[in-house]
Amino acid sequence: MPIDIDILPIAPDDAPAIAALARTVWLDAYSGILSRAQIDYMLAQRYDHARLRAECGDPAKWLRQAFAGDFRAGFAACEICKGEFKLDKLYVHPEMQRRGVGAALVAHAAELARGKGYPAVILAVNKNNAQAIRAYAKYGFRVRETSLTDIGGGFSMDDYIMEKALDPQVPGVRDRI
Ligand SMILES: CC(C)(COP(=O)(O)OP(=O)(O)OC[C@H]1O[C@@H](n2cnc3c(N)ncnc32)[C@H](O)[C@@H]1OP(=O)(O)O)[C@@H](O)C(=O)NCCC(=O)NCCS
Repeated sequence: MPIDIDILPIAPDDAPAIAALARTVWLDAYSGILSRAQIDYMLAQRYDHARLRAECGDPAKWLRQAFAGDFRAGFAACEICKGEFKLDKLYVHPEMQRRGVGAALVAHAAELARGKGYPAVILAVNKNNAQAIRAYAKYGFRVRETSLTDIGGGFSMDDYIMEKALDPQVPGVRDRI
């Protein structure tokens, strides 16, 4: 059943809560996909509080969180990567999954991209993450290519790069008169 959510920017002071939410989602979603050592390595790399705080102030990154009432239900992060608009993070609390939170965050990201004139949103998803691949297909993403990346520490990421083409921005009524 879809729920009502509010989408807000992530502020520097939210960094500890976002890192904790990421850990909850990653342990639930990735335990069957990645080793515990790789999960711990990637969480430490990507959710270091100082790094998250810095990303909040980076004009080329957009961090958003979704609240269902007072409950932090999920978050997303977008960035410009090699000239393309990339959805770099999309995580929904296990108890809030399949209720439209991911769809709302992706729609928000697509609007951000469209508003900045980008023709598409891209993302990387682990080839074995069937749940997310199904969700992305439902949101209109298609597999564009594969990507194998050495992330250090003896770990690698074996991903699909998926792309969602955006309709050109249609001028609003106010813009046309
Ligand atoms: C992938 C994810 C972001 C989707 O967000 P969501 O809010 O759960 O998804 P939505 O409610 O928008 O549903 C979209 C579709 O996702 C799929 N899906 C989501 N949760 C699912 C689940 N637990 N089991 C099976 N399919 C699921 C379904 O196809 C669903 O459509 P349907 O309900 O009409 O069948 C979320 O499930 C998540 O955080 N997963 C774990 C972390 C992750 O893998 N993130 C992506 C990293 S690239």
